[in-house]
Amino acid sequence: MSSSRTMATAAAAALVLGLSACGGEGAGSSGEVAAEGAAPEDLTIGVAMPTEISERWIADGEAVSSGLEEAGYQVDLQFAGDDIPTQQQQVDQMITQGADALIIAAIDGTALSGQLDAAAAAGIPVVSYDRLIRDSESVDFYVTFDNYNVGVQQGTALLQGLGVLDEAGEPGQAEGPFNIELFAGSLDDNNAGFFWQGAIDTLQPFLDDGTLVVPSGQTSIEQAATLRWDQGTAQRRMEDLLTSSYSGGTRVDGVLSPYDGISRGIITALQNRGYGGADNPVPVITGQDAEIASVKLIADGVQSSTIFKDTRKLADQAVVSTQAFLEGEEPEANDTETYDNGVKVVPSYLLESDIVFADDIEPLLVESDYYTAEEVAAGQAG
Ligand code: BGC
Repeated sequence: MSSSRTMATAAAAALVLGLSACGGEGAGSSGEVAAEGAAPEDLTIGVAMPTEISERWIADGEAVSSGLEEAGYQVDLQFAGDDIPTQQQQVDQMITQGADALIIAAIDGTALSGQLDAAAAAGIPVVSYDRLIRDSESVDFYVTFDNYNVGVQQGTALLQGLGVLDEAGEPGQAEGPFNIELFAGSLDDNNAGFFWQGAIDTLQPFLDDGTLVVPSGQTSIEQAATLRWDQGTAQRRMEDLLTSSYSGGTRVDGVLSPYDGISRGIITALQNRGYGGADNPVPVITGQDAEIASVKLIADGVQSSTIFKDTRKLADQAVVSTQAFLEGEEPEANDTETYDNGVKVVPSYLLESDIVFADDIEPLLVESDYYTAEEVAAGQAG
């Protein structure tokens, strides 16, 4: 057992006995990294991913694991089925089993502070993956996309899909008014607020001048939220909106959706109510993650757009940052202002994302080998 593992085990055991919790010191920037300088082969990295239900997180888990393995590390990869206690247990176990660093995509950004304090006490650096871990001093680094800009892109894609803006983002031919509905993600995920704010800031001028109308009147993030980003929950809310606000022939023209799974729930609700025929097309619906099922729907003209976040690049950043800590260095940040987790501003590395309409599938997703043309045609990866 490496000395870092012994330390980790001891710290975790102390926690179990209720003795520990000196906590508070970050392992990377302010504290000591126990495994510093050890050979990668002797080190295990715990990788905690939220769920296997969404294809996006499976791809992330695989990309992070293979990147770490290529760099020589051992990997303990766990998915938590979107269940908070399961994720807490998995991270606890990684620490007791002697993980030397942790890469965590949290389900609930506020639910891991106990685990993180134990990690800090054991000198285990923690990299927050894609979603910011909140309310903890013991988060050493954050790798993610420019989440506010993802929201701006979603708002822009909705406006472009409706024709209010043209391809270049200039005023388009369509004048409206258009009936739209708004969906947000899970409020316990720090990203949900960033996506929402970026989108709303983009749509607001058009809501103010009457180009866009929200017939349900549900315009707050609390009203629009979708717990756990769940497809079925989104489908039920869309069905409720259709019942409450679209009887008597009013049409939905557009829906702001923050994630492809939510988009598919919305599409099912609309199709169940007769949308999808030539004289009653499915509204303009946005998305996120370029999940293969949604990419096919975009190719088929059912979903309008998604946002492509290249998880391979995010995984690379997670690997590089973790490696830096383990080699006794500070990872390179390109943002040290935006991501305040309630206790401190976490140094971050932000990546860029792209809007994908049907015409962008080939250049952005196929030519970069994210998917093959066959996978797009089949709507299934692998
Ligand atoms: C991610 C999105 C994803 C959503 C649902 C967010 O934290 O940033 O890419 O669509 O979770 O899984």
